[in-house]
Amino acid sequence: TKASSPRHFLDIKDHSTETLRHILTLAARVKALQQGRRHPLCPGQPLAGRALGLMMSRPSTRTRVSFEVGMKQLGGTVNVLAPSDMQLGRGESIADTARVLSRFLDVIVLRTGKDANLRELARWSSVPVINGLTPISHPVQILADILTFEEHRGPITGKKLAWIGDGNNVATSMIEAAARLGFTLHLATPEGEFTPSETAVQWARDNGGDIRLTHDPKEAAAGADAVITDTWVSMGDEDAEKRLRLFRPYHVDETLMALASPQALFMHCLPAHIGEEVSKAVFESPASIVFDEAENRLHAQKGLLLWCMEKDDLSAYQG
Ligand code: CP
Ligand code: NVA
Repeated sequence: TKASSPRHFLDIKDHSTETLRHILTLAARVKALQQGRRHPLCPGQPLAGRALGLMMSRPSTRTRVSFEVGMKQLGGTVNVLAPSDMQLGRGESIADTARVLSRFLDVIVLRTGKDANLRELARWSSVPVINGLTPISHPVQILADILTFEEHRGPITGKKLAWIGDGNNVATSMIEAAARLGFTLHLATPEGEFTPSETAVQWARDNGGDIRLTHDPKEAAAGADAVITDTWVSMGDEDAEKRLRLFRPYHVDETLMALASPQALFMHCLPAHIGEEVSKAVFESPASIVFDEAENRLHAQKGLLLWCMEKDDLSAYQG
């Protein structure tokens, strides 16, 4: 058992600007160190002997593979745990599961359809727990997004980003990042249940975030340095037909992109649904950095894993 509390990563807002910047710097350093090498193993294998448990109770391509490959490149091992294959699926409690896994593992990633499950796991785990997406937030996605934006456009502080579409999990983590990293976020969502979480918006504003809300995608996109969207039907959403109808005006196409800054980037966490939230022309355009974002999931996860496991002394990752 550990004396100090584990370095969980459950939400962007839980961490200071300094900690978030530190994780991003670690990610960029490890990426630079490994670039151009014939094989991508991180020099020094900083996580040798450490074990990651990857608990995914919902589908995942990027989060799953980037954590698995990233952990292995850092020298660690990975156990992919489908909750339905565990005793958890037969009613063993999250509290007991967390206390048992903490005796075997050094870090746990959980993707769950129930946000409370993540909080419960973190409460009982004595090793760091990382949020691999819940219906409420997706903080690890945002680390990769910031890394990617800054690679293309320099510091995000002071920039304006437009969010077009559903104000759910990814949007919430982006709202929190806007406050912590000092950029303007203008969100255009349909009315009602699709508007961003009031709690997240209030928190961000209380913490200096410039969060603007509208139902008009043109207003949000105006002059933006990046236009971001997400799927219209998230995992667990059962009202697809209604969503596809209500979200129609939030389709990101070249007409909308033309209202943004001439250098505006297009970003999307993926998976994308071409013809729904984004047109093929925009998705495939030079402005689109969606595959850089996907690649940076790997580098961001590595920075995060090093921080969570307290192997985060920057001097260890110099070129
Ligand atoms: N963006 C993202 O989290 O993708 P996966 O659902 O494939 O992990
Ligand atoms: N909002 C999407 C993100 C997928 C990475 C979902 O929750 O399904």
